[in-house]
Amino acid sequence: MMAFSGQFLLKFVFSIIFYIRVSAADLSYSIQEEMRPGSIVGNIAKDLGLEVIKISTRKARIDTEDSNQDYCDLDLKTGNFIIKKRIDREELCSEKASCVLKYELVLESPLELHRISLLIQDVNDNIPVFPKDTVKLEISESAVKGARYRLNEAHDADIGQNTVKQYSLQRNEHFVLSVTEDADGSKNIELVLDKELDREKNSDLNFALIAVDGGNPQRSGTTNIHVTVLDANDNAPVFDQAVYKASLSENSPLNTVAVTVRATDADEGVNGEVTYEFSRIPDRAKRMFSLNNKTGEIKVIGGLDYESYSKYEMRIDAEDGYGLSSDSKVIIEITDVNDNSPLIHVKSLMNPVTENIPLGTEVGIVNVQDRDSGVNGEVRCSIEKKVPFKLVPSIKNYYSLVTTGQLDRELVSNYNITITATDEGSPPLSSFKTVQLSVSDMNDNPPEFEEQSYSAYVSENNKPGSTLCVVSALDPDWRQNGTVIYSLLPGEINGVSVSSYLSVNGDTGAVHTLRSFDYEQYRSFKVHIMARDNGSPPLSSNVTASVFISDVNDNSPQILYPAPEGSSFMTELVPKAAHGGSLVSKVIAVDADSGQNAWLSYHIVKATDPGLFSIDLHSGEIRTQRDILESDSMKQNLIVAVKDNGQPSLSATCSMYLLISDNLAEVPELKDISYDEKNSKLTSYLIIALVSVSTFFLTFIIIILGVRFCRRRKPRLLFDGAVAIPGAYLPPNYADVDGTGTLRSAYNYDTYLTTGSRTSDFKFVSSYNDNTLPADQTLKKCSTDFSAIFGDADASPEVGTFQCFKLLLKQKC
Ligand SMILES: *[C@@H]1O[C@H](CO)[C@@H](O)[C@H](O)[C@H]1NC(C)=O
Ligand SMILES: *[C@@H]1O[C@H](CO)[C@@H](O)[C@H](O)[C@H]1NC(C)=O
Ligand SMILES: *[C@@H]1O[C@H](CO)[C@@H](O)[C@H](O)[C@H]1NC(C)=O
Repeated sequence: MMAFSGQFLLKFVFSIIFYIRVSAADLSYSIQEEMRPGSIVGNIAKDLGLEVIKISTRKARIDTEDSNQDYCDLDLKTGNFIIKKRIDREELCSEKASCVLKYELVLESPLELHRISLLIQDVNDNIPVFPKDTVKLEISESAVKGARYRLNEAHDADIGQNTVKQYSLQRNEHFVLSVTEDADGSKNIELVLDKELDREKNSDLNFALIAVDGGNPQRSGTTNIHVTVLDANDNAPVFDQAVYKASLSENSPLNTVAVTVRATDADEGVNGEVTYEFSRIPDRAKRMFSLNNKTGEIKVIGGLDYESYSKYEMRIDAEDGYGLSSDSKVIIEITDVNDNSPLIHVKSLMNPVTENIPLGTEVGIVNVQDRDSGVNGEVRCSIEKKVPFKLVPSIKNYYSLVTTGQLDRELVSNYNITITATDEGSPPLSSFKTVQLSVSDMNDNPPEFEEQSYSAYVSENNKPGSTLCVVSALDPDWRQNGTVIYSLLPGEINGVSVSSYLSVNGDTGAVHTLRSFDYEQYRSFKVHIMARDNGSPPLSSNVTASVFISDVNDNSPQILYPAPEGSSFMTELVPKAAHGGSLVSKVIAVDADSGQNAWLSYHIVKATDPGLFSIDLHSGEIRTQRDILESDSMKQNLIVAVKDNGQPSLSATCSMYLLISDNLAEVPELKDISYDEKNSKLTSYLIIALVSVSTFFLTFIIIILGVRFCRRRKPRLLFDGAVAIPGAYLPPNYADVDGTGTLRSAYNYDTYLTTGSRTSDFKFVSSYNDNTLPADQTLKKCSTDFSAIFGDADASPEVGTFQCFKLLLKQKC
């Protein structure tokens, strides 16, 4: 039991603390009515403990539920709460004991609401007023002492102390004043006959009734009482109810009878004729109701509005022909009808909203009002579901519009948010308001290339400046955040900066060549192209563009063996015993192009004896077509053309000198062989060279043979002499490895003599790729040399065919 009450007490204390905290933020001021416009009520900034600057930065403003009440305003510069126009308490609150104007101070970021109550104090600015300037009474002389005659009260529009406090009667011989108070606070003022009247002595009496209020200074009002002394006696009218109460719904049509008052007078004739009039009626009520002075019907003559005034009180006098009267009170209450739709006010809106604002950010403040009361004024507020926003009830009739999802300008850049407010009346009334909200851009999308990678194909020897390809990237962001600029990322191709090969148009993404490409130097390369937007900071992405260069037949075949005319002179020995089909020599040519462009074919275009030698179309091997006859000329000369298969094809020619002889000593003047030779000097050099080579060759064979006979009895001759190829004849791709102009060995030239046979064969091994080598041949492969020279990518078979050659005369001992 103790624990329970302790807990209860704690809760109670907490609620008090909470209450104090909330109310501490509310402000109340009290001012007198009728203050000059511009008067300062108080300093809101100071009273709320806010810096004055915050008043304007937080968009402070004064709101009132009733727009007619804009009596006050906030001075944003000073934080002062000032009077804007004259406040008349009587007009504003009439008889209400406390007249309070209610305002709300709204501050944004964060939303804060402070209530401001402004109590309007009464100033004694009204005098007591009697309904009539003169009260006419007709009193019979037979009236006895103590007879009472009702008088109407005076009314003072002020309240409290300032309202009527005292009545006094001008001194006279016959009447004294009696003032009593009713249960409802109204006063009964009666003249009491103190000394009998005598019509014969004094037929008319005049004296004043004075009402004084309690204000300081005091104010007073007067009415004249005129008494006519009569012979006869009569009765005052009597109302059948002391208070008439009626209830009317607002918006009742004109001429609706609100209530009918009735008073009866016991007298007959003119004495019994009762007329009605309002004895006291506020102006407001006077505009709404009329009183039929004969029938006592009170009718509606104005538009009743519960929201502006809900209760009318008036006093009605019933008077007979002699001025004898009584009064009654009429109270008409107006009932509420759901006749006001809710009003939606957007108090603040963050517009535009940036797209990356965090979830739950407050972007707007909405206030709804319904002037109806009770359930008719209870409002539910909502927005449609499909937008990423919701309304969160905040203070009182305020709602915060907060985001519930990530905004993405690239998906939705504009929202039309329809706020619906519905009251609880029956039937309910609704209203709508559409708020337009635009989403502003953040640079949150990098440019994106339309393709994963780009490939461009170009034939070699292209014109510099031609367009290779066009890259394109899209950035959905707005304006400069979505403006794409292309550029080349730095890089190198064969040690040279890419920027000397290509350029990219920053605006269009067109990739241009800056130089002419050579397929024989590089067949493809890659560059990286960046697309960057113009945001700050910029976002970028990059893409790889591969450039493939295709071959053009721009290299004619290069004949490596025999060496071209003029630079050296070589001749082949053909044994006289050679049979038809014997291999005599081989033309070796290369073509720096590739594919079809390097596919070579060999043709004999001219021969001393056209029927004697033939050349293999593809291998270039020269063979005898038939057995050599004694009658055949010793000196044979062939002109061989080598063509590639390009379009158009390129060709080269060479001369091949053949000497049919078993013995170099038989060789006649070699001069005769080169029948084309015109330069005799050169010819003699050639002869000397040939003779010395042959001599050397023979000497060598003899030595070798000698050695072989000594050792094995089965000699084998190998010729190991490098064919000298002048450097100028090397195709561009060929490295001069030894620095002597000698190519690395690839072609082995074997000569072997078989015992018992006079046939010596020159055998050319065309390539290591074709497996034509006899199994017992021990030839040194040079594939490792290939890769060292040409790089692994280029180690293709067709390249290999002409890479290495060297005449070797090797002896296997
Ligand atoms: C929003 O409303 C405006 C004008 O009423 C209209 O032009 C616009 O297309 C609407 N936008 C959307 C997203 O519905
Ligand atoms: C671009 O994005 C930045 C933020 O990333 C933003 O501040 C700016 O306003 C945007 N520009 C435009 C034109 O929307
Ligand atoms: C290019 O893009 C890749 C990923 O797409 C990124 O890792 C790299 O850093 C980028 N390079 C440059 C130079 O921006």
